[in-house]
Amino acid sequence: MTRIALITGGSSGIGLALSRRLAARGWRLLWVSLKQDEIDAAREDVLAAHPGAAIDGLALDLAAPDAPQRVFEWAEGQGGCDLLINNAGFGVYGPSASLALAAEQAMIAVNIAALHALTRLFLPAMAARGAGTIVNIASNSAFVPAPDLAVYAATKAFVKHYSEALSAELEEAGSPVRVMTVCPSAISDTPFLKRAGMEGVRTFKSFTATTAEEVASDILDGLDKKRRFVLTGAAMRRAMWLMKLAPAPVLRWMTRRETKRV
Ligand SMILES: NC(=O)c1ccc[n+]([C@@H]2O[C@H](COP(=O)([O-])OP(=O)(O)OC[C@H]3O[C@@H](n4cnc5c(N)ncnc54)[C@H](OP(=O)(O)O)[C@@H]3O)[C@@H](O)[C@H]2O)c1
Repeated sequence: MTRIALITGGSSGIGLALSRRLAARGWRLLWVSLKQDEIDAAREDVLAAHPGAAIDGLALDLAAPDAPQRVFEWAEGQGGCDLLINNAGFGVYGPSASLALAAEQAMIAVNIAALHALTRLFLPAMAARGAGTIVNIASNSAFVPAPDLAVYAATKAFVKHYSEALSAELEEAGSPVRVMTVCPSAISDTPFLKRAGMEGVRTFKSFTATTAEEVASDILDGLDKKRRFVLTGAAMRRAMWLMKLAPAPVLRWMTRRETKRV
């Protein structure tokens, strides 16, 4: 039977890189993104490489309070999903007090509220079917408070804490549903950087920076190995050892250096 993956933000960046790999493995894809024209263009892109791929898209704003319920009903109408990848998200760069309140609220709505609601909606449906995997995309900014990314990093800290605790709860309860948390480091080749207004920020040029292809490859490897947690990028995994050894003030200094423009 064809397996179905619902990927929020499937038409861009990490989501698109993952989609190409899942299509190559014969998965049917359901995408939820903001812009219909981007869904259409990305669909053509995947079909050019995998002419038999089955891809359906739903364009909506995940910041809208009713969006998760609409996504759930749409996906259930398409046969439900075996794999939910909560990947849609965005950042806004700058000192929090200088940013538009509405922009920060939208970031919280998409990065936290929609991810949480989609997880809660699909979890019982997957459990009723006897299997399912939920992948929640956090960030390496979830580890340390990040000036100039104060709200973004806090949304990703929520995703990491919530997803890891939920994974433990499900495992203890013997649930057939698994949750995998993913923390990518800065990705230099997706639209995220420009959309967040982060051109020239050091972390995208740092040795820990990665690519959408490396992130997608690490996520699929994590899925194959049934991992609970994936830190993407070989360089970031090496840096994590240094971060674990570094005293808190040094870690904060390093983080501040990474989030500054050079
Ligand atoms: N890039 C990085 O450095 C980095 C590092 C760590 C973690 N991450 C996380 O990885 C995830 C994917 O990032 P990416 O680099 O692949 O970024 P991206 O290329 O900008 O992709 C983001 C996707 O999310 C969708 N999206 C954004 N806001 C939405 C909304 N309000 N409603 C519906 N869909 C919305 C976008 O749709 P449209 O394209 O149609 O607008 C797009 O498909 C995000 O959660 C991000 O926080 C990124």
